[in-house]
Amino acid sequence: MANGHEKLETNIGLMVVLVILVISVGGMVTVVPQFFQSELTTPVKGLKPRGALELAGMDIYLRESCNTCHSQMIRPFRAETERYGHYSVAGEFVYDRPFQWGSKRTGPDLHRVGGRYSDAWHRVHLINPRDVVPASVMPGYPWLDENAVDGSLIQRKMRVLRVLGHPYSDEEIENAPKMLEGKTEMDAIIAYLQNLGTSIKTRR
Ligand code: HEC
Repeated sequence: MANGHEKLETNIGLMVVLVILVISVGGMVTVVPQFFQSELTTPVKGLKPRGALELAGMDIYLRESCNTCHSQMIRPFRAETERYGHYSVAGEFVYDRPFQWGSKRTGPDLHRVGGRYSDAWHRVHLINPRDVVPASVMPGYPWLDENAVDGSLIQRKMRVLRVLGHPYSDEEIENAPKMLEGKTEMDAIIAYLQNLGTSIKTRR
């Protein structure tokens, strides 16, 4: 056996192949079973895919890179649940494409921010955070209140998401552009924020 090992250690080609094999098998063993674990793939009760306005809001959230300062993943630790509410569970994210979990928290986690503040608070806060939180280092986004939502791609987006398993009805897709009519980007991002983390009951 000593000979065999020596061959392995001195043959870099063979070593590379075996290292790739070991990492692939190890990776599959940890990843593949999760596809079949129903608690990770079943939506929590009451979870609905985002409506047209919330969906448009999510895209604005990403465009403005809010996710570089805000995570959306409450960990199951006391310090987190005391501050934010119930920890996040996998079934809440079934209709999140892409996931906004993240780990960078320059600002607070936003997973349970839905319903915590009024729409009016969000509007003032997003235009100039320091008007409501004097020490805030968050930038203002005043243009959101001036730009109309771009609804030109909303139906295509919803159709693609339906292929991926979001249960949108033909009617919802049909009506999507109407839901965005006359709305500003501010309306959309607030609708998105108000919907976050509201599908399971929280203590707050
Ligand atoms: C440079 C980092 C940064 C960026 C980018 C940023 N934020 Fe913030 N955000 C913060 C900080 C810091 C706070 C805490 C102070 C405050 O409330 O303003 C905060 C607070 C918040 C709160 C209140 C949360 C709570 O529980 O009190 C909301 C909602 C929010 N941000 C939404 C957004 C949205 C939406 C965007 C993108 C349009 C965004 N943030 C971009 C840093 C950021």
